[in-house]
Amino acid sequence: MHIAMVGAGYVGLVSGSCLADFGHEVSCIDADAAKIEALKAGKMPIFEPGLAELVANNVRARRLSFSTDLVGAVRDAQAVFIAVGTPSRRGDGHADLSFVYQAARAIAAGLDGFTVVVTKSTVPVGTGDEVERIIRETRPDADFAVVSNPEFLREGAAIDDFKRPDRIVIGVDDKRAKAVMTEIYRPLYLNKAPFVFTSRRTSELTKYAANAFLATKITFINEIADLCEQVGADVQDVARGIGLDKRIGSKFLHAGPGYGGSCFPKDTQALIKTAQDHGAPVRIVEVVAAVNDQRKRAMARKVLTACGGSVRGKTIAVLGLTFKPNTDDMRESPAISIITALQDCGARINAYDPEGMDQARQVIDDLTFFYDPYSCCEKAHALVIITEWDAFRALDFDRIKSLLVTPILVDLRNIYDPDELDRKEFDYSCVGRGKVPPLGP
Ligand code: UDX
Repeated sequence: MHIAMVGAGYVGLVSGSCLADFGHEVSCIDADAAKIEALKAGKMPIFEPGLAELVANNVRARRLSFSTDLVGAVRDAQAVFIAVGTPSRRGDGHADLSFVYQAARAIAAGLDGFTVVVTKSTVPVGTGDEVERIIRETRPDADFAVVSNPEFLREGAAIDDFKRPDRIVIGVDDKRAKAVMTEIYRPLYLNKAPFVFTSRRTSELTKYAANAFLATKITFINEIADLCEQVGADVQDVARGIGLDKRIGSKFLHAGPGYGGSCFPKDTQALIKTAQDHGAPVRIVEVVAAVNDQRKRAMARKVLTACGGSVRGKTIAVLGLTFKPNTDDMRESPAISIITALQDCGARINAYDPEGMDQARQVIDDLTFFYDPYSCCEKAHALVIITEWDAFRALDFDRIKSLLVTPILVDLRNIYDPDELDRKEFDYSCVGRGKVPPLGP
């Protein structure tokens, strides 16, 4: 099938490459000519494990191409995916749909023959109706159907999530469109991946409900972690103890500095706004978003406490800047809040991240960058681990102790065993693994 993928970002590039790998002919479109030229030269605009090879294989097989010619690509396509950004609108948290609507108008111009227009981007309930209205207004003669097909791709695992999804959700009311979507995902159909065919609005809301629930689950275990610190319990054992209940499930129960990324923060805000606008506020999600924002700042206080209450004039070594490992993405990373709070308290920051430093330069000022964990620690007064990259999971603490001014480690991802660090005479702080209070008299 001929497919046009509008948007060559985290979602469009991965989705387009995977659909090409399924055997379809995909033309990946972007308005950014420099990005398209880079892609044609085999240079990826994002860090995603396995993506460069997937793109190269499908370009070589002539199933995947890159272009800025949206109208031409739409003319040849039976299905056109809208995979452009839907960032939070400045100031009010609504999703900014201007790129989606621009794409809809441009797509309308190229429609030729029955075409399925698919919203892959995360869009508020009712956006599909508006996309349909814009296209019909622009091209009353066109024969098309608008379908919702949200993505559930995690950065760093996006290719696997696309090829081995827990489910495919498709919001479609048109029989011909349903047949086209079934054909597009035939390889997954044959692999018995669960398909959820539903209405367009239900599909759009399903995406937000999924992300809001995951954000809630993370925030729940983060608050339990705070309680664990007060009562001397271990949040990792609590997480295991509840996660073994199949009704709860063990995933997304890792306590940490709060969730970041390009999705949870913006999608929770967009859902909150949609719910408020429709008089059915999602109060739980409102609290989750507020608690998560406060948590990132609270992590800086944990570092201050570990450093004796002040970091003024001190150097703090930070390992991990990205919002999660295996990505270069700094969007809403807890590191931004934590580092700027420490700088406001007079700390100098040494930083190392395997992939995120180029993006970090654009969002955090006055960082001193290093290119390995050990040089980052030299003459620092404390070491803080913010992102759980594999590269930080087997550090040589004898060497680190020799480099630090004071052996202070704040492990915000609970990578290490407190007893091991105690044996190495580190002053070790972590998340949710409280020390049992001394027994009363
Ligand atoms: C998320 C959803 O998982 C994905 O389905 C959706 O399509 C896009 O948004 P992503 O934002 O890439 O994916 O990352 P994810 O792995 O979900 O982590 C999001 C944030 O939650 C990260 O900051 C991560 O550190 C944090 N997190 C995740 C936790 O703090 N604890 C956990 O147990 C899991």
